[in-house]
Amino acid sequence: MINSILITSGPTIEPIDPLMFISNHSSGKTGYYIAEEAKKRDIERIVYITGPSNYIPDNVDIIKVKTAIEMREQVLKHYNDVDLVIMAAVVSDYASAKIYPDKINKDQESISLKLIKNPDILSELGNRKKKQILIGFAVETENIFKNGQKKLKKKNLDLLVLTEISESNKAFKVDESQVYFLTGNGIKANKKMKKSEIAGILWNEILNLKPNK
Ligand code: CTP
Repeated sequence: MINSILITSGPTIEPIDPLMFISNHSSGKTGYYIAEEAKKRDIERIVYITGPSNYIPDNVDIIKVKTAIEMREQVLKHYNDVDLVIMAAVVSDYASAKIYPDKINKDQESISLKLIKNPDILSELGNRKKKQILIGFAVETENIFKNGQKKLKKKNLDLLVLTEISESNKAFKVDESQVYFLTGNGIKANKKMKKSEIAGILWNEILNLKPNK
């Protein structure tokens, strides 16, 4: 039975100075629709951890974060209390090694910025997995199935939602997308559809899954 779930959504933003940051194109729509669909399926508790986004569902436990480090802290805090985690957030893979307390002025022709790797939250969840079902997302541009299968195994996931980014299938800032579902049982290709519809078929798939551990 799935009673309580954790959804992450939106981008993370990694500060450089008081004005600048590193982020990505995630709008938070996918996580929003997954939460809306969860409510229709009578999930008792929804913990929703989101980076900055205009798409915030109501009647869920909202936790707002900015950086990957903050997201990790909140996800780990709630991990043991939930039956399912859906990592729909697009976590910035890198953060600035230094956060400048004062605004960087443009008095130099060029400056270098050192980036350091953020923790991979989903991999950590995979390593610590007990009863939880784990769902991850991936966008790929080449060797999509090979890379997807690798992520499914490496992160110890039950299901990976895979998008191939191309001119005709842009994953970000669009309403429709074409995704594949990868599980231990193989690959399922879905038609291009609205993100709200993807949330519906994803939930159907989840409810047919059995945890692989
Ligand atoms: N993810 C995460 N923590 C990170 C990066 C990603 O938890 N620091 C999660 C995302 O929420 C997503 C999944 O991992 O569900 C796939 O992210 P992706 O960036 O595609 O995979 P990576 O393992 O970072 O591989 P790549 O080298 O291709 O970027």
